[in-house]
Order: sequence, then C-alpha cells, then structure tokens
Amino acid sequence: MIDKIKGLLKETEEFTVKTAEELENFRLKFLSKKGQISMLFNDFKSVPNEHKKLVGQEINKLKQFAQQKFDALNNSLEDDDTQTEGTDYTRPGEPIELGSRHPISLVRNEIIGIFARLGFTVAEGPEIEDDFHNFTALNFPPEHPARDMQDTFFIEKDPDILLRTHTSGTQVRYMENHKPPIRSIFPGRVFRNEAISARAHCIFHQVEGLFVAENVSFADLKQTLLYFAKEMFGEKTQIRLRPSYFPFTEPSAEMDVSCSICGGKGCNVCKYTGWLEILGCGMVDPNVLEKCGIDSEKYTGFAFGMGIERIAMLKYQIKDLRLYFENDVRFLRQFKSAY
Ligand code: PHE
Repeated sequence: MIDKIKGLLKETEEFTVKTAEELENFRLKFLSKKGQISMLFNDFKSVPNEHKKLVGQEINKLKQFAQQKFDALNNSLEDDDTQTEGTDYTRPGEPIELGSRHPISLVRNEIIGIFARLGFTVAEGPEIEDDFHNFTALNFPPEHPARDMQDTFFIEKDPDILLRTHTSGTQVRYMENHKPPIRSIFPGRVFRNEAISARAHCIFHQVEGLFVAENVSFADLKQTLLYFAKEMFGEKTQIRLRPSYFPFTEPSAEMDVSCSICGGKGCNVCKYTGWLEILGCGMVDPNVLEKCGIDSEKYTGFAFGMGIERIAMLKYQIKDLRLYFENDVRFLRQFKSAY
C-alpha cells in the first residue's frame, strides 16, 4: 500500500496541464469522491493497526500535495486567461480618432462669421411657434396657402401651435423686444410637411437676417448681400436680384449667385443658366414693423433668408439632401475645417 501511495505521489508531481479540461481530469482522478485518494481512505480501513499511523500519514501527505498542486495549476490557468484578454500593457494603444464638424454646422458658422464682420449679432428662438409669430405678424392673410396642412406641421389647432416653417418668427420676437437700430441674424432648424427626396426634406436649416434703422434702403440690402456672396463663394462671384413675392417684404426679391463651378459659363449644376438661386429678401413690409411695435414712419428695414443645406450643397457639391441626416461617417469624415 505504501508503494501505491508513493506511485500516486509521483504521478501528481509529474502532472502538468495546459487546458481547463486537463485540470478537471486531474481533479477527477485524484481529488473527487470517486478518485484515487478517496479509494485509499477506503482501503485504509483494512490496514492492520500497527501500520495505520504510517500509512495514514502518507495518505494525508498525498492528499495535501494533490490539493496544493490543483490550486497552483488552477491559478496559473486563470493568469493565462487574463493575459490573452488584453492586460498586456506593452501592447500599442488603440488610436483615438478625431471627429469632424457636420457640413451644416460648418456653413452655419461661416455665415455667422461673415455677418458678424458687418456688425450683425446672433439670436435664436423657439422651434415650436404660435400662429401669431409664424404667420399673422408676418402679414400672412388668413387664407394664405402656406398656413395649409400640406406645408405646416400643426401640434394643436385653435389656437394654432406649430413647428415653425421658417425662422422669421424669431425676427418678430426680436423686434417685439428690441428697439431699432436692429442688426441681427437668426439661424435655426425649420420644419415643412414635404415628401423626402434628394432635393427636399421635412427638416432643414435657415439663417435669416434683419436690419432695421433710419434710412435703410434697398441699396444697403444689395450691398450687404453682395459682400456675403463674395465672402462665401469667392471674390469673382456676381449676384442678380429677381423680383419675387413674400407677404412680409415689399418689394421682395430672390437672389442668384453666378455659378462658382463653371464661373457662369453654364454646367449641369446651374442647369446651363450660369446662375444659382440662394436666398429670398426684401424691404420689411411697414405692416410687419407696426405689428411688432416699430414706428414705420421713422424706420425702414431689410430682411433676407437662406437655406443652409442649399448653400452647403453648392459649396461642397453635395448632390443629395438626405446625406445630411444619415450620419454616414464616410460622408461626414470629408469635412474638416477650422470652423
Ligand atoms: N422666410 C422666407 C422663407 O422661409 C425667407 C425670407 C426671409 C424671405 C426674409 C424674405 C425675407 O422662405
């Protein structure tokens, strides 16, 4: 029996394991209830009394040794595990990628920068508007089609609460709370109930501008917009104003810039006209000034409004409006700038 114990001791000493499975085999063979060591304790009962002391000591020695060996092997296996899971501090770090600004933010900031150089401040207003600020104060007659369900997302009816269809409501709020001279621009997100396509979206961004003071003329409007166009699209850019209609301006105009892609010669971006429409503008209608508490006998003003998506499309030659909202990093990564 002593020989058998010595043999098992040698076997446990020489045992090495590489996997958890091998370790489990070791445990089953030596340490489990039906393992070799348990069996030795069974056999121990039939050992003659005079040998019990010596044999008992040997079995206990074997049991202790086997248990220690099991614990040690178990620990080393666990250590190995954590090594492969990445606590190797000598490995090179993961690179941290720098983000880029969204093209809408870039162009928005650029527009703000250009008008800031002319002394325009920036003001923002609520995206959820009431009928008065979005329509009535802006001289929209009660039956004007822009109030229609097809254009406007209404939140509540009678009295009407809606998602603003333009940032002109912020101009009204600003005139209610400030005395002329007023020289501000109003960037913001606007909403229109339109089917989404490459050329239209139900959410987009605008920057509107307002200048109200004594003796403000159409010439001031034209010169301001010419400066803006040259700053935005390059020194060679020309502008042209076409008569138009808005309820809140009189006279009203739409402004085109000479196509920066073909230089006015004609290409598929400007549809071979040499011109690109970029904004609406006009002299603030005296009715609007009066509704906002400004004396229209004493003060005159001009206003303009442009879509940021449209300007960004022309600047970066983006062909599909939907790209702005998809947040595809392959698209977004292309815009890096100081702004
Ligand atoms: N509010 C007009 C629009 O959303 C733009 C505009 C603003 C036109 C100011 C003229 C003057 O289309």
